[in-house]
Amino acid sequence: MKINIFPDPNTLADAVADRFINTSQSSILATGRFNVALAGGSTPQAAYHRIASRGKKELVNWSLVQIFWGDERCVPPEHPESNYRMAYEALLDHIPIPVENIHRMAGEWLPFEAANHYQEILESNLGPSQRFDLVILGMGIDSHTASLFPGTAALRKTSRWVKANYVDKLAAWRLTLTPSIINQARNIVFLISGENKAEALHHVISGKFQPHQYPSQFIKPTSGKIYYYIDTGAAKRIA
Ligand code: 6PG
Repeated sequence: MKINIFPDPNTLADAVADRFINTSQSSILATGRFNVALAGGSTPQAAYHRIASRGKKELVNWSLVQIFWGDERCVPPEHPESNYRMAYEALLDHIPIPVENIHRMAGEWLPFEAANHYQEILESNLGPSQRFDLVILGMGIDSHTASLFPGTAALRKTSRWVKANYVDKLAAWRLTLTPSIINQARNIVFLISGENKAEALHHVISGKFQPHQYPSQFIKPTSGKIYYYIDTGAAKRIA
């Protein structure tokens, strides 16, 4: 585990963009492709904008990049809450990536059908490794990550890679990757910003192992690397 602390959201976003570009280059050199799962929410937007502007300068061979999502709200792609829409507006609409390389979760479908379909999408598009080269994750103030929320069914041990997950406190369905596929990733980056995340991050990193209460604790790469990219606000409770 490597914890990188940055003074403000801008330098944090720059650093995540560097990690994305460097990992894409090393993955493409090693395997001829770069399988990346994007996080939703608001924090990653600044990093996606930077990747778009830097990626244009041929730093990224977009034709060999396969874009996936870590989770999705069960809404249509044009909905303001859609993680696909956020990534499209911040990144995908600004880079020369072939449309067939973009693997959206079908938030507009029935949740269980969308989850089963995305399992097939992963199996058909991750290539021979059947793993991600990079998974970018955010974390909520309740220590959820992707759409693995405390006390929800998707936390139950499963070999499935994608679950439909009803989140009581949101009164909403979500689609989410499960720890079983996330933890196979070569690289996992937690991108966390803001003092309001400090308490949750303290529990996840230093607290007792109670993953059903602090689901980000389920994220432990089996053989890959995990990096925490955080700002000083989120780092307030890190010893
Ligand atoms: C989502 C995300 C979720 C997010 C955290 C943090 O669909 O909301 O995937 O896991 O990363 O809730 O969100 P913020 O970056 O908006 O704080």
